[in-house]
Order: sequence, then structure tokens, then C-alpha cells
Amino acid sequence: MSLQKDYEKELEQFDLSMAPPEEEPQRQYYFIKKCRALVKRMEQEAGRPLTASTVTFGCQMNARDSEKLAGILEEVGYRMVEGEDADFVIYNTCTVRENANMRVYGRLGVLGNKKKKNPHMLIALCGCMMQEPQVVEKIRKSYRFVDLVFGTHNIYKFAELLAERLSGSGMIVDIWKDTDKIVENLPLQRKYAFKSGVNIMFGCNNFCSYCIVPYVRGRERSRSPRKIVREIERLVDDGVVEVMLLGQNVNSYGKNLEEPVTFAQLLREVEKIEGLKRIRFMTSHPKDLSDELIEVMAASEKICRHMHLPLQSGSSRILKIMNRRYTKEQYLKLVEKLRKAIPDISLTTDIIVGFPGETEEDFEETLDVVRKARYDSAFTFIYSKRTGTPAAAMEDQIPEDVVKNRFDRLLALVQEISKEMAGRLTGRVMPVLAEEVNGQDASLITGRLSNNLLVHFPGDQSFIGKIVNVRLKECKGFYYMGELTDE
Ligand code: SAH
Ligand code: SF4
Ligand code: F3S
Repeated sequence: MSLQKDYEKELEQFDLSMAPPEEEPQRQYYFIKKCRALVKRMEQEAGRPLTASTVTFGCQMNARDSEKLAGILEEVGYRMVEGEDADFVIYNTCTVRENANMRVYGRLGVLGNKKKKNPHMLIALCGCMMQEPQVVEKIRKSYRFVDLVFGTHNIYKFAELLAERLSGSGMIVDIWKDTDKIVENLPLQRKYAFKSGVNIMFGCNNFCSYCIVPYVRGRERSRSPRKIVREIERLVDDGVVEVMLLGQNVNSYGKNLEEPVTFAQLLREVEKIEGLKRIRFMTSHPKDLSDELIEVMAASEKICRHMHLPLQSGSSRILKIMNRRYTKEQYLKLVEKLRKAIPDISLTTDIIVGFPGETEEDFEETLDVVRKARYDSAFTFIYSKRTGTPAAAMEDQIPEDVVKNRFDRLLALVQEISKEMAGRLTGRVMPVLAEEVNGQDASLITGRLSNNLLVHFPGDQSFIGKIVNVRLKECKGFYYMGELTDE
């Protein structure tokens, strides 16, 4: 489903024998037109329609970027499919932890073998991993069958890079170190008809000492509130009822705009959009979570009862070395405020185990916060050393067996608490957004509560995208079984 069709008219006026325009996004429109001709020619050679697929690793920002790539691919004539059996496969990579990174190399090898059998096949790599010079070097050396490599800052140039690849031969590599540019109004293909991610900012300025994101996503840039609201209005016109506002630290949204705006003010504007039913956002950094935001959430009809509030560690000593800029006490105070203002709220978090120098006492502090904050769920990660980050150079890296032992203890506690927390709505009637037909039992619909928990209830395809009232009959650990009701 492409959103912006305004450019179709513009496309017609481009004469491809002329030089491309300098300004964006017109320049990309020109290359989309050019790619259309090139893809058509390839299709004629192949004697069949060509397919393309984006494979996304990593977070919601990457998922949103993949939708932008899919939008262009569709515009230039590819048929989008799922999985890796396609004529054009793009890996949108993540490098936040080492294992995310290793998975890509493994799968790339398999893809290379497929390419040997398909003369029309193209392979592209993009995303966060490509912002690391040693990765690009390895690809140039050991994965010479890759056609196109680009990074996070120039993803808007995809059509231009593709045109270059299709008109020549050999690997095209284009990586930028950083950017202050935000190019708007490019085509986009959404994965879901009824819900959508919306970027409100890019990059990160926080430099938590373990984290590679600021190095691969660049400095923080906020989009203007006007553009964000306009995008959401268009999405709503197109059938979207729920948006997820995306940024690495949404609580610092708007600080670098010419006319500074707070995240809470932005939420107030988004709330006014008629037809929009639900608002989610990700991720909140505890250091910037304001009272104003809590007030706006508490008073809102649309903001979902869910806050993802990464803790990382419960030890104030470790938090300081992590450069998180809050203490255990400040974090717990925030949790208390949130629970008081929004009693139904579901709290989720991210925790890292085994940060350099973490002692048993530090780890116990983390367990203590988990017990006190009572998370609905928590993503637990084993610390992964990322080259170039301050923590990678720290002495006192924790031995694997110690980390594993702590990780298992943390996971057991987290699971015990989430089970208890999940059941607290049993018997209530709650609004549920019907999202899809259940994968295992087609007589059931899977939907989501405002607090992000899943509910399965008898229903059919016609419910999808609608918000319906469901009685939560039974909690099965991490989801509910329910039934429709008129109450
Ligand atoms: N911007 C978000 C997090 C983005 S990365 C925030 O500040 O909360 C998602 C999660 O990956 C982080 O919350 C952290 O828990 C985890 N993570 C980041 N770097 C990591 C590393 N080097 N090792 C292990 N986990 C890491
Ligand atoms: Fe990484 Fe910290 Fe930025 Fe989150 S806030 S992306 S953890 S540096
Ligand atoms: Fe991974 Fe990049 Fe997101 S490193 S977590 S895909 S910002």
C-alpha cells in the first residue's frame, strides 16, 4: 500500500535523457522512473515477473526503514514476497549485539549459493551493521557476490543506488558517516493496513557506554511536529487506527528543533487527530521522562496503557558507568509516579546482565528493582562487547559462566513476576484491536490490549483492524483467551 502518490504526476515529466534534478525527493523520483525501465528490461530477459523481499533484523526503526525500501521496490516494478526465495533480497541489518551481527553472515552465505543458480538475482545489505567500517571491508573481501551496500543515513537514496547498480556491474558501496538530512515524501509500503510505525526522530545523543547505536545511527534529529501530524492524518485516511511513534529516546523529542517542542506537546497534537484510536511510543529513556508526559498519558483517551522503560541495571554504581544518568532510587520513584497516575499501566523493560565490573551485589540490586517495579515483561540481554564503545575497552569483563548464572536467575524472576502481573485483568471487559487470524487455530482472532498483551478470541477475518470489546476469560501465562461481548 503506497502512501504518497503525488509524485506519479511528477514522474511523468522527467526526461531520462536529461541529468537528474539536484533537490530531494525529486531526484529519487527521477531514479524511480529510471529503475522502472531497467527492471522491465530485466523482466523481459527473465520472461517472468521479478520478486523482491526485505529481511529485517533489529528494532522497530529498522522495520520502518524496510517499509521504505519495500515502497521503492514496488514502485520500480518488483513484486514483494516474504522470505529469501526472491530475485532481489535485501538484508536490513542490526549490530546492537554480536549475535545479531553473526546471524547475517551465516545467512548471507546461503544467499550466495542461491544467487549462483539465479542469473537475475540481486543482493543488497543495509542498516546499522553497514555503518561499521570493518564489516564493509569483510563484505568487500569475502562476500563479493553482494550487489549493493548502503547505510542508515542514505537509505532515502535507495532508488538512485539501485539505478547505478542496474546500469553497471560490480558491487556498489555507499556509506555516509552522519547526516543532518531528513528526506520526506518517499513511497512506502506498510506491513499492516491498520497500524503503522511513525518516525518522530532519528539517531541518538546519549552514548550509553555499552551501546553502538549512536555510532551507527548518528546524532539526534527530530522531525517537525507538523510533518508528523500530516503523516499520521494521511495514514488515518488510509485506514490506520494505531500508530507507534518511534525514536531511540522519544522523551528528548523536539529539543533540537528550531522551535523546541516537548514530546508531551507532540502527543497532545497527535491525540487530536480524528479517527486515530491508539497511540503507542518507543523508547522512553528514564532520565528524560517528564511529569508533563505522565499527566498527558493519564488524561489521554488514546495513549495506550503501556510504558517501555529500559532499566539496564538496578545498581546506581553500574548505571553511572553505563552513562545512563539516573540512579536506582530515581528510577523506582518514576515507576511509583507512573503506577499512581495510571493504575492500569503495563511496564516493560530492557536489562543487561554482565556489564564490565558488575559484582554479585550490583546484580542483586537489579533483582531488587525487578521485584519492586513488577514488570509485565522484560527483555533480558547478556552484555555484548561492541567495538568502539567505551565499555568495550573496560577491564574486568565478566566471565561467561558467571554471566550465564546471573542471566538464568534474572530470567526466572522476570518470568515469575510477569505471570502474576499478566493475570490481573482476568474477568474484565477490555477493548481489543483485532490484528490477525490466529496462526494455529483459524477460528480465533488474535488481538492486542491497550497494555500490549495478546488476546485470542473466536471471530473471523472481518474483525481485523477493528477495536472490539472482549471479556478476558482466562489468562494463559502471557496471553488471554476471551470472547466478544456487547458490554
Ligand atoms: N534506545 C533504547 C534502546 C535501544 S537498543 C534505550 O535507550 O532504551 C535496545 C536494547 O538493547 C537496550 O535497551 C539494551 O538493553 C540492549 N543493548 C544495547 N547495547 C547492548 C550491548 N552492548 N549488549 C547487550 N545489550 C545491549
Ligand atoms: Fe543506546 Fe543509550 Fe541511545 Fe538507547 S539511549 S540507543 S541504549 S545510547
Ligand atoms: Fe539494531 Fe540499529 Fe535498531 S543496531 S536495535 S537496528 S537502531
